[in-house]
Amino acid sequence: MKVTINDFLKKKNEGRKITILTAYDYPTAKMVDEAGLDAILVGDSLGMVVQGLENTLPVTMDEMIYHTKMVSRAALRAMVIGDMPYMSYQASIEEAVRNAGRFIKEAGAQAVKLEGGREVADRVEAMTKAEIPVMAHIGLTPQAVHRMGGYKVQGKTEEAAKRLLEDAKIMQEAGAASLILEAIPSDLAKQITSELAIPTIGIGAGVFCDGQVLVIHDVLGLFERFTPKFVKNIANLKDSAMQAIGEYRKEVEEGLFPGKGHSF
Ligand code: KIV
Repeated sequence: MKVTINDFLKKKNEGRKITILTAYDYPTAKMVDEAGLDAILVGDSLGMVVQGLENTLPVTMDEMIYHTKMVSRAALRAMVIGDMPYMSYQASIEEAVRNAGRFIKEAGAQAVKLEGGREVADRVEAMTKAEIPVMAHIGLTPQAVHRMGGYKVQGKTEEAAKRLLEDAKIMQEAGAASLILEAIPSDLAKQITSELAIPTIGIGAGVFCDGQVLVIHDVLGLFERFTPKFVKNIANLKDSAMQAIGEYRKEVEEGLFPGKGHSF
């Protein structure tokens, strides 16, 4: 059975952690689903880890739909969350709802994620009214890289922490079903988590969040350009892949492949 936002809430209330990884294609999503994770986030981080872009800003709605469709085909159990790319929800409430609806109607997602606090509360409310579960995302919001002056830890001063706590409550009030906290001090994440009824999902926000999310390319050692402190590199698939690719090249060059067993 598919994981739903009710299961997220149940896990929070029972003190069990919610597990999320990103995926952007069918085979990767299939592994994440089979490994029993609760949800797959089709993040706009694909701009950096799949498309090789400098940041996430150029990623388009059509690209997000393309990738989310592949992930939805693989996710038999895990909830699929489509990430709203830059400029798909900023311009107007109507555009935001229509684009969020595309993730559900065209791409088979069960929820959408968007970045921002109080400034997008009206979008969250409108999407929720349109029966779309919303995951809000505050703290370090990569689409605001130019305003933030880089990818920096947020909520470090008393004033900034107070504002983030307020934003978290505003998102809950607007109808968000869950909330990502990215790159904020763990004490602040702990306070937000205990004061909210909805689950918090941390990335660089410490151990007290109700769940965790990471970019799968970071976990598997497939993205080396930029590694934030909060990333845990658990495998090094690049090394194994390079070994296999090099071996293939050598075997072709030396006439060892294809052998009799691979020929007709
Ligand atoms: O785009 C993304 O993958 C994200 C996660 C890192 C939270 O926003």
